[in-house]
Amino acid sequence: MASLTRPNSFLRKALVFQTFISCGVAIIFPYGTSVGDTKLTSERSPEINLDPPFPYYGGKHQTLQVYEDGFITLDDTQARSAYLFDQLEVEFPSIVPWLARMDAGLSQGEITYRLTTNTTVLNEISAYSAKFVEFINFVPVYAFIAIWYNVGTAYYDNSTNNKVNSFQVLMTSDGSKSLVLFDYIRVEWVFFGDISFYTDYDGIENFPQFAIKTEVL
Ligand SMILES: *[C@@H]1O[C@H](CO)[C@@H](O)[C@H](O)[C@H]1NC(C)=O
Ligand SMILES: *[C@@H]1O[C@H](CO)[C@@H](O)[C@H](O)[C@H]1NC(C)=O
Repeated sequence: MASLTRPNSFLRKALVFQTFISCGVAIIFPYGTSVGDTKLTSERSPEINLDPPFPYYGGKHQTLQVYEDGFITLDDTQARSAYLFDQLEVEFPSIVPWLARMDAGLSQGEITYRLTTNTTVLNEISAYSAKFVEFINFVPVYAFIAIWYNVGTAYYDNSTNNKVNSFQVLMTSDGSKSLVLFDYIRVEWVFFGDISFYTDYDGIENFPQFAIKTEVL
């Protein structure tokens, strides 16, 4: 999983937090423990310091945390649950490439991340982002890269519920602007029901399993 492979088909979205959305050719960064990633083995990572702080919706955020359930929080020390996103207002800064119940402890797939100042990576970002008019001459000082690689749902089992997704998120900044890229490398399953409905049941363990089987697109 160290090598960089380019998938045949994928969906890519770039979000720049100044009303900017773009679809185009993906840039997928090397990932995995062999390039220095830390593996997420629990619900969320420790706090990771961002210096300079990461500008995002008017705030400048000094830390982030990665959650197994496909989201990242900024300057937020509380443990959060994916189901909070089902509420009308999410009252904490977050970046959410894929919201679903996933499990970093499962044998299937892995979630890894790193904060890097590797000049090769930063130069690649600079060259790539220059195609966006807001980012001509963008010189990032760090890149935070996380991947959910071949992850199934939290209910993954090899025989019946064995679809996997891979997606990568990049967060990068020069101290005054921030750029976030989402790369959807492989999408085999989609569901939202486990997030939106399990609060209706008496605990997620009672949520009916049939409702959350994966679907092939
Ligand atoms: C920086 O990243 C490049 C491309 O991923 C890699 O080949 C190189 O080994 C990295 N350099 C260091 C010092 O980690
Ligand atoms: C699923 O398959 C993987 C790889 O073959 C294996 O390591 C793992 O134990 C299996 N998990 C289950 C729940 O059967």
